Amino acid sequence: MGYYRRMDRRILKETIIAPSVLSADFSNLAAAVRDIDDSGAEWVHLDVMDGKFVPPLTFGHKAVADMRPHSRGVFDAHLMVYEPRNLIADFARSGADYITFHIEAAVHAHRLLAAIHDLGKKAGLSIVPSTPVVMLENLLDLADLVLVMTVNPGYGGQALIPMCLEKVRLLKSIRERRNLNYLISVDGGINEKTAALARDAGSDVLVAGSAFFSSPDKQALVRVMKGTE
Ligand code: DX5
Ligand code: ZN
Repeated sequence: MGYYRRMDRRILKETIIAPSVLSADFSNLAAAVRDIDDSGAEWVHLDVMDGKFVPPLTFGHKAVADMRPHSRGVFDAHLMVYEPRNLIADFARSGADYITFHIEAAVHAHRLLAAIHDLGKKAGLSIVPSTPVVMLENLLDLADLVLVMTVNPGYGGQALIPMCLEKVRLLKSIRERRNLNYLISVDGGINEKTAALARDAGSDVLVAGSAFFSSPDKQALVRVMKGTE
């Protein structure tokens, strides 16, 4: 496991794009994940909301299981829920590859990271804009992914909060200093223009919802977001 987890960041040649189905037509999620595959984006970002940690409700593990056969992508589940420990086994069975939870929603985050690994999945930690990176200090060596929210979670289509990118820079420098291996992902307000800012700050993964699903040319958008054109 240690070797496999370590591989990820070392073999990463270009920025990963993770379109979020939050902005897709929920009556046709199979088409949404096929559009993601066809665009050249590698990951499918799955925003799970419980109506408590954030006001809206989205979907649960059954929707993820139903999407799974329609995509070759890495399934990146972002749990915006209280009591995430109650859901991780279902999401693991449904085909999520990464399971990310909010430290603001989990007291025993250290145990939960281990539980996700025990299910054979990659474990991610997320922080909202008001949470500083120092809150992750005792957890980073167990994380495969750190998801920095660049908007307050709950809704697509909001503007990126620039100070959140400072956290990306800090996470990158901590990773070097402590020789750790987590990927750094950013989520919220990422579009054609802000993608470059996020990449420059050191993001490995860019989540994009509204920018992706409103784009008439998704392949071109993905190339621009990756910085390869
Ligand atoms: C927001 C979600 C995001 C959302 C981003 O709470 O976590 O993943 O889909 O949407 P955009 O890219 O439109 O800001
Ligand atoms: Zn998200």
